[in-house]
This record gives sequence, C-alpha cells and structure tokens, in this order.
Amino acid sequence: MEMTKDFFFPLSKLDLSSRPQLFDFHGVGMIPIFTANWENVQNFQARPDDIVIATYPKAGTTWVSQILDLLYFGKTSPERLTSLPIYERVPFLEMTIPNLADKLPTTPRLIKTHFPVQFVPKSFWEQNCRMIYVARNAKDNMVSYYHFDLMNNAQPVAGDWNSYFQRFMEGDMVFGPWYDHVNGWWKKKQTHSNIHYMFYEDMIEDTGREIEKLCSFIGLSPSAEEKEMIKTGVQFDNMKKNKMTNYSTLPVMDFQVSPFMRKGKVGDWKNYFTVAQNEEFDEDYKRKMKDPTLHFRCEL
Ligand code: PPS
Repeated sequence: MEMTKDFFFPLSKLDLSSRPQLFDFHGVGMIPIFTANWENVQNFQARPDDIVIATYPKAGTTWVSQILDLLYFGKTSPERLTSLPIYERVPFLEMTIPNLADKLPTTPRLIKTHFPVQFVPKSFWEQNCRMIYVARNAKDNMVSYYHFDLMNNAQPVAGDWNSYFQRFMEGDMVFGPWYDHVNGWWKKKQTHSNIHYMFYEDMIEDTGREIEKLCSFIGLSPSAEEKEMIKTGVQFDNMKKNKMTNYSTLPVMDFQVSPFMRKGKVGDWKNYFTVAQNEEFDEDYKRKMKDPTLHFRCEL
C-alpha cells in the first residue's frame, strides 16, 4: 500500500504564513483545517470494529492512543510502532478525511477525534463502534492547551497567560468550551454503553489499573508480561524519548517554545494560576459544572 509522508497529516494544506483565526462553526469554535472537509467527515463510513479515541485537546489522547496501538498490534506488528509516528497509526479524523477511509490498513482502525459529541459522524453511532473518551481536569487541561497554542503554528495565537485564562473560561477555544465537551460526552455515555470514559488523573495514579479497565472494555486479555511491557513503554519519560510518540517529526510544532510531551503531571496548574485566578475560576466552574456525578481531581 502506498503512503506518502503527507498522506495522513496533510501538512501541505496548512497555510503557515499566519496563525488561523477562530470562528464559530455550528456553535463551536473552529479553525479552517478542521472544517474544510466537513461533508466528507460527516459522511465517513465507519466499520463496527472501528475504535474512536475522543478527547478535548490535551487530555491524554496520545497516551491512550499509544496504549491501544500496543494492545492491538504490539505483538503482531511491532515494526509499525517503531517506524510510524502516532499520528499515522492513529489518524486524526477531522484532518485526514477523505484519505483515511480506505487507506488505513489495520483492523481495528484506531481513529482519533477532538470533536464534541454532537459532531461525531452518524455512521459511528449506527455501527455501534466502541469509543474511548479521555477527560482531564480543566485547570491542567488549560495549562497544557496554552503551551500547545504557544508552540503549534497551526493553532490560533495564544496571547499572554491572563488573556488565555479568560478565553478558556469563555470557551473561545478550538473545539469549543472544555465544559461542554466533557459534559456532552459524559451525558452521552449514560445512554450509550459503548463509551468508556477515562480520566487522565486516574491514568497518572495507576496506569496498570486503567490499562486493565481498557482491556475489559475492548475485550482483550494480554498476558501479565505484555501488560507490564506496555505499562513501561507508555511511561511519560519513555514516550517523551520516543520519536514515534513525541511529535518531534511534525515541523508545525516549535519545540524551542515548548515540547509536545511537556510535563505530564497532575497539578501543574499551580505554577500558572494566581490565587485570584484560582478563586475566579472555581466560582465560574461551580456555575458551569452542575452535574454532581462528573467529578474531576485537580490534585492527587
Ligand atoms: S493532543 O494534541 O490533543 O493530541 O494532545 P494530548 O495527547 O491529548 O495531550 C498532551 C498532554 O498529555 C501529556 N502526556 C502524558 N502524560 C503522562 N504520561 C504520558 N505517557 C503522556 N503522554 C502524553 C503531555 O505531556 C501533554 O500534557 P502536558 O501537561 O502539556 O505535559
């Protein structure tokens, strides 16, 4: 099968001469690279065994993608893990359509998306595909997204920390407000049994336990030895060193500003939020996050 470097991640389509502007798209903040192929994306034909990895940006997509790729293909095609960057093994739905549909060679196909739940193409629901949602506490998610927007030339201008902080609370972000995203998927999970909702903080606390839960959701039973190898392989330091997971192969990201694998911690927000910002944030959070069943941990 023919693959060009540019195939799964169409860098040539990116205009990097200036940062994109955020605009409202069906009520959600978006930038052109994620909406240009809207019709094709919405008409995507899913297969029943496709696995969707859905997240708000910076919630642990790459981490869970690597775990799933290791679980499914670590034994049968280890060369795939050492020769293809993560964004080719687990392509980004909204950026890689229409090429993705017939070109992804694996079974199952692992597909990443940052879509809020209402944007997921209907075929995934019709086929009853398994979906894994990863959520991260808003404060760390904001700090991680801020650094990403500083270093990723394909994202809108980040601005300074104070203005970013306000914008995050207002929800003027690519893929919309964090609050709507995590709540939308949480609500959907109540009526759709094929969604496995995970938390970044749980992964940090006990990666092995979360891999176990993931395995029972997807119906895989790796040996204890395999699980141990996966757990070690996906430790932050190992993924940071690994060129196939650390995004160092993507020129749109300026690692001089910030690396993709930045800190990988719970509670880094304390290094950025002022006391006043923390109070303002908590007040606003209470107003927006009314569902007592959806609980996040901002420290462990
Ligand atoms: S993206 O661009 O939305 O796909 O980014 P995403 O992968 O969702 O999130 C990136 C953040 O996840 C951290 N990360 C990890 N933390 C702990 N362990 C492992 N293995 C790991 N892999 C990725 C990554 O460092 C980013 O978080 P911050 O807080 O910026 O370090």
